[in-house]
Amino acid sequence: MEFKNSYSDSVRAESYSKLGFPNTYFLAFRDLAAIIFKYVKGTKALDFGCGTGRSTRYLNNLGFETTGVDISEEMIRLAKDRDRKGQYQLIKEDRFDGLAKQSFDLILSAFTFDNIPDFNKRIHLLIRLRSLMKHDGIVILLDSTPEIYFHEWASFSTKDFPENRKAKGGDPVKIIMKDVEDKRAVEDIIWFEEDYKFSFDMAGFELLETAKPLGRDNEPFVWINETSIAPWVIYVLGNNHEL
Ligand SMILES: C[S@@+](CC[C@H](N)C(=O)[O-])C[C@H]1O[C@@H](n2cnc3c(N)ncnc32)[C@H](O)[C@@H]1O
Repeated sequence: MEFKNSYSDSVRAESYSKLGFPNTYFLAFRDLAAIIFKYVKGTKALDFGCGTGRSTRYLNNLGFETTGVDISEEMIRLAKDRDRKGQYQLIKEDRFDGLAKQSFDLILSAFTFDNIPDFNKRIHLLIRLRSLMKHDGIVILLDSTPEIYFHEWASFSTKDFPENRKAKGGDPVKIIMKDVEDKRAVEDIIWFEEDYKFSFDMAGFELLETAKPLGRDNEPFVWINETSIAPWVIYVLGNNHEL
């Protein structure tokens, strides 16, 4: 069965474009700036799978000169509407036309690999991303943990999808976003830490850090499982210089 990118749908794109950093999403971005500045020296950034530009604007606000790219025409259109001065580019799934090799200090991919099926395709995309990064650049993947699909969260519900618990790496799973108007289930692809690590090895990356932010009791959110189970994982990747 072919996997359809949920974000090619105009109603979903419109709904997603209104999303900021509420609830569980706050946790995804809370520690990201500190992680970025620990590793990144320059200011040229690529936001791979920029969607409606939320993660691109986040990087621009940190001082990066960011290019956002996405395969969804609708998401790119909304990103441009919201941020007229921003740089956004529609790309084809298997081509990165117009993006210069070895030119980015930072490549961020926020929630994009949650939507990418096929293990080989993921490795090819990672190899392409590595070719765009400067020799001492960094790729950061911010994605869902498998556990996000098994529990309840301030921003998400999965209780209607008990079948998620049986999913293996690469299988489709369903989740409902509580922070947006569009309450239809989103279909993602589940990937486990070992799948990610194997694909990083295959693509010639060195895994520099893995972060799994947890919620804190003093934060102004009604956490459900966020203080004990991590919904997000942040992988920091550098060139494997030994290859
Ligand atoms: C969940 S959205 C995240 C958007 C944005 N990064 C954010 O944090 O708000 C995932 C995005 O990845 C895009 N995407 C999926 N596969 C892609 C691919 N192969 N190349 C580029 N973008 C892709 C989707 O179209 C969608 O806009």
